[in-house]
Amino acid sequence: MRRKLVAGNWKMNGSAESIRGLLQGIREGAAAVAAVELAVFPPFVYLESVEKQLSGTTVGWGTQNLSEHTSGAYTGEVAGPMLQDFHCKYVIVGHSERRTLYGETDQVIARKFAAARKVGVCPILCVGETLEEREKGVTEAVVERQIKAVLDLEGIGPFAEAVIAYEPVWAIGTGRTATSAQAQEVHAFIRAKLAAFDAHVAQQTRILYGGSMKAANAGELLAMPDIDGGLIGGASLEAKEFLAIAKAGC
Ligand code: PGA
Repeated sequence: MRRKLVAGNWKMNGSAESIRGLLQGIREGAAAVAAVELAVFPPFVYLESVEKQLSGTTVGWGTQNLSEHTSGAYTGEVAGPMLQDFHCKYVIVGHSERRTLYGETDQVIARKFAAARKVGVCPILCVGETLEEREKGVTEAVVERQIKAVLDLEGIGPFAEAVIAYEPVWAIGTGRTATSAQAQEVHAFIRAKLAAFDAHVAQQTRILYGGSMKAANAGELLAMPDIDGGLIGGASLEAKEFLAIAKAGC
């Protein structure tokens, strides 16, 4: 059985004060949704504070990005070993905002995936098509290409633990969610692609849905057989809403 993971991608939001309030709310509500695993992804500068506030709780944490390099002259970057210093469990790689706004290619993302694994931090690999790609009917080809770059570099083995997040770009931050049937279709496609390499591993891979997921639509999405949780942006900034999404997955 794959335990569901509900992950809050805070993006570039929050302040020391708002994060204290948010984490207090999440800590207080976590026990009631213990069937689901929770994790939060603050901006780098709050990582130490988040670690302090969540240590000893059941809530995990990680970052929204990492460098493909281990150390050196890479101004503004943060390396895998630094995430290890703050006991990150996860790191998001290849979010569509990184792909489109910061020009990260499939190959760069594959190397970031490898960099995370090298330091024992579990990568959450984001994939997903744009609206134009969906309308052209190439959703599966796009998602397959994005995953293949990682398979080519790292093989199928890491997917026993690594997480994939299917996030249709047209659903991110738009209020427009994929229907549960649309999401399930792509999730099943991803699992089948992994199964072609190793059926056992494919059964273990958690595949999250992301894109305007909220309490009101989470129940239907999380009931789908191949949807193993959610990567939540906007709705993860309020403890009540975030916990209500997790509740829907219990
Ligand atoms: P959203 O973002 O929930 O605000 O659509 C999801 C994501 O980008 O991970």
